[in-house]
Amino acid sequence: MRLQVFENYEEVSKAAAKIVASQIIVKPDCVLGLATGSTPVGMYRELCRMYRDGLLDFSAVTTFNLDEYYPIDRDNAQSYHTFMWENLFSHINVRKDAVHIPDGSALDAQTECDSYERVVTEKGVDLQILGIGQNGHIGFNEPDESLEVKTHVTALTDNTVHANSRFFESEEAVPKKALTMGIGTILAAKKIVLLACGKNKHDAIVGLLNGRVTTALPASFLNLHNDVIVICDKEAYEG
Ligand code: PGA
Repeated sequence: MRLQVFENYEEVSKAAAKIVASQIIVKPDCVLGLATGSTPVGMYRELCRMYRDGLLDFSAVTTFNLDEYYPIDRDNAQSYHTFMWENLFSHINVRKDAVHIPDGSALDAQTECDSYERVVTEKGVDLQILGIGQNGHIGFNEPDESLEVKTHVTALTDNTVHANSRFFESEEAVPKKALTMGIGTILAAKKIVLLACGKNKHDAIVGLLNGRVTTALPASFLNLHNDVIVICDKEAYEG
């Protein structure tokens, strides 16, 4: 696992965007695994800028998002579908049919997960972007006694419902379930970049970097992958 520590959020965002841009330049028809949350917003802004400046072409790129709330309508302002179109997809020339996000309005959540897993596994992710929860979750793989390998339906922990309630009218309005890639789905990516900013991520980063693997900190499984870059700001690293 390689570590890069930057002064602030802006620098983290630029460093992450450079890695994504390099991937697209080296392999124009690459498959990107994408994340939501506040952390990657600056990276997406930078990628949109590079596209506007004529430096990047997304026309052959395929994307798979990590997760989506369940149940939720695509058009809900808080869906990850809406987030991705607002923060990235509407501003670049990615093909609509090359964008994949778990369908939070699927009638049968498990069938949706199985089909998502099949497609993402078939395509194979070249570069997976991750954030990290304060509790060490990646995607919606929450700390538990055991972790799911494949894309699955999961219940959000109280900690995550609380952390995400800042985007909703109230804590009650946060969907209590999600569809998420599993730990195995994430680890199958060829390269992984995890972003973390702010003091509230410090404990999770310490746990990630301490060289042990535990289901109490799902991100720690990234230690089993041979090409992971952790990019964080000083606050996340130093606390
Ligand atoms: P955040 O979420 O970027 O909004 O902090 C990260 C996560 O929960 O994975």
